[in-house]
Amino acid sequence: MKKVLVTGGCGYIGSHTIIDLLNNGFEVISVDNNSNSDLRALNGIHEITGHRVKNYTVDLCDFEKTAKIFRNESFDGVIHFAALKSVGESVGEPLRYFNNNITSLLNVLQCCKDYEVKNFIFSSSCSVYGNAVDLPVTEDTAFEAAECPYARTKQMGEHIIQDFSFANKNINSINLRYFNPAGAHPSAKIGEASLNPPTNLVPVITETAIGKRESLTVFGNDYNTRDGSCIRDYIHVMDVANAHTKAVQYLMDGKNESNCEVFNLGIGEGVTVLEAIHAFEKVSGKDLNYILGDRRPGDVVSIYASMDKAKSKLNWETQYNIEDIMRSAWEWEMKRTETVLQN
Ligand code: NAD
Ligand code: WQD
Repeated sequence: MKKVLVTGGCGYIGSHTIIDLLNNGFEVISVDNNSNSDLRALNGIHEITGHRVKNYTVDLCDFEKTAKIFRNESFDGVIHFAALKSVGESVGEPLRYFNNNITSLLNVLQCCKDYEVKNFIFSSSCSVYGNAVDLPVTEDTAFEAAECPYARTKQMGEHIIQDFSFANKNINSINLRYFNPAGAHPSAKIGEASLNPPTNLVPVITETAIGKRESLTVFGNDYNTRDGSCIRDYIHVMDVANAHTKAVQYLMDGKNESNCEVFNLGIGEGVTVLEAIHAFEKVSGKDLNYILGDRRPGDVVSIYASMDKAKSKLNWETQYNIEDIMRSAWEWEMKRTETVLQN
């Protein structure tokens, strides 16, 4: 059985990926400092899969503690999710973002080298493309200027991994550029549970519908798009999760052509903010209280992926559409709200 270290395993995408890895026969160890999560995700994983995943509560910026994990265990691969991810927060606290996201990456790469872990997957982001002009975005689309320090940590992260891979030919790495992950496990036993209040569209929609927020503001309806609102490529978190399993398996099977590859993870379709809201209203049967408001500074008008490369090389297919995303996000919101009310 291949053993994989998932960093940020208590977080949103990490926890969903652990389920997919376990379902595909991998042994998983998690490390998380719970700066934006708690251990409840691991209980959900246990309920869904029957597996109790071992978690190290360690800050990956602490090299000695990180190295100890690698000494204790023998990993066949590492999937590195751990990072701070709030765009707005990163603008106000750039040094915290650079320190956390870059130091943790450097420490994990150093440990991969020191303890001969041959396969490494990195959580990158569509934000590396900045304000891309030609759509859909392919893996060859050049990086534009980063719109915020968070996005810069992802551009820097990719460059660090490229240089590391060049110097360490025995280690294989993949940068996965996620577009807009959303939704939850269909069981509603785990989902997005950030400690920071969410700012992403889908959790804002579900929090508005359940009454945690009075209304949702659509940031701009005067863009040059089919209904005036911005276009994004929303992808179900379980599809994102499965791409990680496929990516780590691809490296372990030696199918990679170079020792540092890149894949976009999106559905390959653009959905406007208003279309996303209407998809939610359709599957939930609820009218959403939304207001048409001003543009949000820093928003790109439209971005969506070409996912042909991941499809052909990783043999990965998305299983879920925007309605599935909304349905699962809504079920998770209802379940977690009910749990809070019971306690
Ligand atoms: P998340 O905040 O839910 O999960 C990240 C986890 O990493 C959290 O549990 C946090 O406690 C942990 N962590 C952060 N810094 C750490 C450190 N120094 N040591 C140990 N643990 C640490 O975020 P997510 O949505 O699951 O995102 C996972 C990854 O995917 C991140 O790298 C993020 O930048 C990237 N990403 C996310 C999105 C998105 O929209 N969610 C899109 C593109 C890329
Ligand atoms: C989506 C659309 C908003 C909230 C961010 C990061 C990116 C990546 C994915 C990590 C936009 C609109 C939103 C609201 C709205 N994350 N919106 N009202 O900005 O595409 O990408 O998450 O790597 O780096 O920047 O996602 O969910 O914030 O916004 O109208 O209350 O929804 O304007 O058009 P975004 P988002």
